[in-house]
Amino acid sequence: MPPLTVHEADSLERKALTRWMNPRRFTAAKAARNEYYFIARIDRFIFGCVKIIEWKDKPNYDGFWLYDLIVKNYCRGFGIGEALCRRAIEKTQSLQHNYLSLLVHESNIRARTLYEKVGFQTTVIPELQTELQKKSGTDNLIIMRIHFH
Ligand SMILES: CC(C)(COP(=O)(O)OP(=O)(O)OC[C@H]1O[C@@H](n2cnc3c(N)ncnc32)[C@H](O)[C@@H]1OP(=O)(O)O)[C@@H](O)C(=O)NCCC(=O)NCCS
Repeated sequence: MPPLTVHEADSLERKALTRWMNPRRFTAAKAARNEYYFIARIDRFIFGCVKIIEWKDKPNYDGFWLYDLIVKNYCRGFGIGEALCRRAIEKTQSLQHNYLSLLVHESNIRARTLYEKVGFQTTVIPELQTELQKKSGTDNLIIMRIHFH
């Protein structure tokens, strides 16, 4: 069987992602951000993805943010999510950034455990708290961040 690879998506692979994920989320407002996508694939089949975005027009969202980490249901628990996260972290470091941040729902224990495993810690950005409370509903959104220096 061909090996699983985790790598930065090229333009064709990004198109494949649009077929898998909600297309609007992958095409909107590109000019407003600097973004990189990573995919886990075996042969031509994609099993998971994640992206990092540096917003250019969002106050209080400094640096890169990790979004849309997802692994196909039937492939969970085999280290793919962790490999994707580590690849996103490596890329952020290679771009000379000092930290990578993300938002996760408080109830998402699987994701939070994974993020903690690779080095993220819960943090607070006071300027974002009101906005996050509005977005969260009953399931709090929390901020996690990994520092490299
Ligand atoms: C969260 C998600 C990406 C994890 O992907 P995965 O490939 O199953 O995770 P991995 O196999 O790489 O697991 C790595 C670590 O995550 C944690 N983890 C994974 N599944 C877990 C579970 N069911 N319960 C608790 N911790 C879990 C563990 O620390 C695990 O390390 P270990 O195997 O040494 O214990 C996957 O469950 C998913 O796609 N969930 C739905 C989308 C989502 O919630 N994304 C996050 C949005 S913020």
